[in-house]
Amino acid sequence: MQQSTNEINLDKLPQHIAIIMDGNGRWAEEKGQERLYGHYHGVESVRNIVEGCAEIGIKYLTLYAFSTENWDRPRNEVDGLMTLLADTLRKEVPTLNKNNIRMNVIGDMEMLPEYAVNALQESLDLTSQNTGLNLIMALSYSSRWELVNAVKKIGVDVSLGKIEPNDINQELLQTYLTTSKFPDPELMIRTSGEYRISNFLLYQLAYAELYFTNTRWPDFRKENLYEAILDFQNRERRFGKTGNQIQQVETVISV
Ligand code: IPE
Ligand code: IPE
Ligand code: MG
Repeated sequence: MQQSTNEINLDKLPQHIAIIMDGNGRWAEEKGQERLYGHYHGVESVRNIVEGCAEIGIKYLTLYAFSTENWDRPRNEVDGLMTLLADTLRKEVPTLNKNNIRMNVIGDMEMLPEYAVNALQESLDLTSQNTGLNLIMALSYSSRWELVNAVKKIGVDVSLGKIEPNDINQELLQTYLTTSKFPDPELMIRTSGEYRISNFLLYQLAYAELYFTNTRWPDFRKENLYEAILDFQNRERRFGKTGNQIQQVETVISV
């Protein structure tokens, strides 16, 4: 069943949605095409989902576009993806600006080819004044890379005497993550029928609601996104408490 926006409670939207955009390669292979054909079509879905998020007022959207482990794919696929990324970023900046969308990036930029870094930097600079949806691209990103990096930086600051080991708590650790400026995602969606996290935001997803769909990423459209949001809105998020405790709080709030 496809959902439309009018079934969604706009007062109960997740602030931050994170998506593992998976299934491009299989989508193409099922059509007798090269894997890159799937990646090209995946860009259509990105456009549609970004628009869908902006339309209903989502504040943060993180898209897992390329993992640290994806560098080990065949050379022509990696090169094709990097070119596609740079070309798409250049093409889409005017639309991002028109819709007041700010680009952000998390990941190891040192691994990217120079032309991709340049295109990325341009899109960051040109959208930096926008105040609507924050689009966060996870590129050359993995959670273990991020956590190791955070630990290294904390180690340096301890050795410089900027912080004491006893100062280290969840709030401080959060400031050393690549996502320090963003709230944790409340909803994580993975397309293509895989039920795993694949090194994505392991720390930040601690209490996210997880939503898995068999739809391949190139077929994923805003109606599918709204279905996921509706599913999210029907869940009881307990954060370790009992259902009764949560329902009491809700009653107090609604009185
Ligand atoms: C997701 O689709 C895009 C990237 C990882 C870059 P895949 O390329 O993983 O597609 P499948 O999972 O092989 O079908
Ligand atoms: C995760 O998908 C990374 C992205 C979608 C960018 P993968 O296709 O690389 O993950 P695995 O290998 O199936 O776990
Ligand atoms: Mg995959």
